[in-house]
Amino acid sequence: MRQIHIAPSILAADWCRLGDEVQAIEKAGADWIHVDVMDGHFVPPITVGAQAVQALRPLTTLPLDVHLMVMPVDAHIDAFAKAGASILTVHPEAGPHLHRTLQTIRSFGVKAGVALNPATPLEAILSILPSIDLVLIMSVNPGYGGQAFIPYTLEKVRRLRHLIDERNLPILIEIDGGITPETAPLAIDAGVDVLVSGTAVFGTQGSPSSHAYASAIAGLRDKT
Ligand code: DX5
Ligand code: ZN
Repeated sequence: MRQIHIAPSILAADWCRLGDEVQAIEKAGADWIHVDVMDGHFVPPITVGAQAVQALRPLTTLPLDVHLMVMPVDAHIDAFAKAGASILTVHPEAGPHLHRTLQTIRSFGVKAGVALNPATPLEAILSILPSIDLVLIMSVNPGYGGQAFIPYTLEKVRRLRHLIDERNLPILIEIDGGITPETAPLAIDAGVDVLVSGTAVFGTQGSPSSHAYASAIAGLRDKT
């Protein structure tokens, strides 16, 4: 039985209380903390840099899963790795030599991830699978929380799951965008290991956090 990891995205958290929010989701049963880094160029919004990762690092024991929506990305790997990222995920469009970027990430002892936009084919990574620790399938276009899940991105998850199982590769499949209690079972059924969720976890704030977060996180987990 595949173990499902839940990675709440702090994009939808209360940014005035970011440290408390991270500690609340750890207490509520989150497995990873997903940090969305946006540069105002690869995607329109600007969020945070390596300094935020460094500030969060001592506040939690959970892996910091850093999604770099940054282009060009190569010059930033060093700073995010040294700030304490556990996983660094890049988009293939964000640099000229994806394989070299992944090698650089691994050279810091950090797990190397590749994020595939809805329009980016699986073929972009097929020849370099041994250099990848995680594939993030975008189920929305990157840049914003709260968007509607694009169901046919699951086809990519199914193909990748098949490939990984067939070749017995140690690669995790993560899905990001529009994950709710309704879409999570579809993603799990298609073969993901890690569910990123912003709005469906942090959207429950208002009622005192850790209880609401705990039921939101539990509501995304595999029910089978
Ligand atoms: C979008 C980000 C996502 C975002 C998901 O570019 O990569 O991680 O926070 O938010 P929801 O879960 O609200 O779709
Ligand atoms: Zn993300």
